[in-house]
Amino acid sequence: MSRGIFITLEGGEGAGKTTQIRMLATALQQQGYQVIVTREPGGTPEAEKIRDFLVKRDGGNWTPMAECLLLFAARQMHVEHLIKPALADGKIVISDRFADSTRAYQSFGHGLPLDTIEEINRLALGDFAPDLTFILDLPVPEGLARAGERLSAASSQEDRFERLGRDFHERLRQGFLTIARRDAERCRVIDATRGIEEIARDMLSQVQLDAQRKLA
Ligand code: TMP
Repeated sequence: MSRGIFITLEGGEGAGKTTQIRMLATALQQQGYQVIVTREPGGTPEAEKIRDFLVKRDGGNWTPMAECLLLFAARQMHVEHLIKPALADGKIVISDRFADSTRAYQSFGHGLPLDTIEEINRLALGDFAPDLTFILDLPVPEGLARAGERLSAASSQEDRFERLGRDFHERLRQGFLTIARRDAERCRVIDATRGIEEIARDMLSQVQLDAQRKLA
């Protein structure tokens, strides 16, 4: 069966994921690849409903475990209804966040045991995982300043997670770096303090190497 490539972008708030995803998708499309861009929590109508519970300011006061189960409920729908069918068609799927965000936010950030998350991950997704994950890394003050500008510009209500404290965001950053170290084959840490164009070139060349291997 022909199989596409599943790429995820991860990182704390304000790391520039959205811009980089747009640039990566455009560059790959120009090279003739069929690309689907999606996001988590979300990506399907059902999962977008769950997103509202989780990220809106008035979405609810969830325990970390309930939050984790809602995230995996949304993710399971997303994988089965959107990601797997697109990969079976040979497409490149790029997701703004995936399971590493649950590891980083719900475990390193909120203290849910990592083993518990891995167990739920196995139950919900089996051995399904991204082929390639970019972790956009940025010092916390810089990320929060950028995220703050974005929120005030958009007057977004989706700031329940961004309003957490500075310590939380430091744990999150170390969490993502730990995940990258543990799964170095899949994860590439991207220095997000560099210019937008330089980061985009770096990521594109890494995807092209993978694409040549997998889609040749
Ligand atoms: P976004 O700001 O990148 O759109 O992400 C929405 C928020 O959801 C963000 O603050 C991170 C949070 N989140 C988790 O806490 N766990 C997860 O598994 C995912 C996918 C997102």
